[in-house]
Amino acid sequence: MNKITVVGAGNVGATTAQRLAEKELAREIVLVDIVDGVPQGKGLDQWESAPIEGFDSRITGSNGYGAAEGSELFIVTAGIARKPGMSREDLLRTNVDIVKSVGLEIKKCSPKAIVIVVSNPLDTMCYVMKETLGASRERVLGMAGVLDTARYRSFLAQALDVSVEDIQAMVLGGHGDTMVPLVSYTTVAGIPITQLMDADEIEKHVQRARSGGAEIVAFLKTGSAYYAPSAAAVQMAEAIVKDKKRILPCSAWLEGEYGMKGVFLGVPCKLGARGLEQIIEIDMNPAERAALTKSADAVRETQDMVRL
Ligand code: APR
Repeated sequence: MNKITVVGAGNVGATTAQRLAEKELAREIVLVDIVDGVPQGKGLDQWESAPIEGFDSRITGSNGYGAAEGSELFIVTAGIARKPGMSREDLLRTNVDIVKSVGLEIKKCSPKAIVIVVSNPLDTMCYVMKETLGASRERVLGMAGVLDTARYRSFLAQALDVSVEDIQAMVLGGHGDTMVPLVSYTTVAGIPITQLMDADEIEKHVQRARSGGAEIVAFLKTGSAYYAPSAAAVQMAEAIVKDKKRILPCSAWLEGEYGMKGVFLGVPCKLGARGLEQIIEIDMNPAERAALTKSADAVRETQDMVRL
């Protein structure tokens, strides 16, 4: 890929840019932020790590979108981060305005770009981005499921003392307290998790994954998670850049799948060069299906509060 732009040069954005460069996912990586000097300084610092890390992706930072022109992919992390005691929904008003303004800039400078949204509240910010761009659903995806799933996988790997690589799982639904970890699709090297762990212990890890974001906020006090979130966004970017057709849980605009439409929700998505290439509908048990519907209702409630 020629150019990827990361909007927001804060914790998530800057870490994302560094990870993109270290994987050489684009010839050029642009960091955009409104704070004077921050994207320029971080971009230069990162570029100066190139001779040591051995990557040739050029990173530059800017306050405007001139350098971002013609980007094929954007990763949007602009916004304010959650503070302790603040729910994702509290962020709503401020971040709607921010994401809308970013969307208008993307529309002007790179009208065909694919956009991965990271800003919270995630599913609603995806809606704001899609509406602002006037884009088809192929081009707007939200990063949440990969992160929520990674948290769940990391807890299971630790508890079972096995490689994280051998834990397959999928967390669907909205990125919030109503997320839906699918226990029936959780396996360890293909072995159903229920054969290796009792139901109470599985539930403990499910609950921890559900509050995984808040757990980090409680530690950090002045910010929210960024190492795992940036890794998750870059995994989605890599699937698109390399046209890998990976199946990852992402927030996508539903048009009838799972019996729902007009809402962004975490579902299994095939990601490739065109962005969202397919939403895969899987069977769920009645409890999981009910939890997914409940999660969609919660997202819809926030989405409906947004006036564009
Ligand atoms: N355009 C570009 N950048 C902006 C804009 C804007 N309109 N408004 C704010 N920003 C920038 C801020 O200047 C800041 O540098 O977004 C950056 C956000 O960085 P942090 O405060 O460090 O937040 P971070 O932890 O990176 O989280 C960013 O991702 O995970 C979500 O909930 C999180 O919504 C938050 C986002």
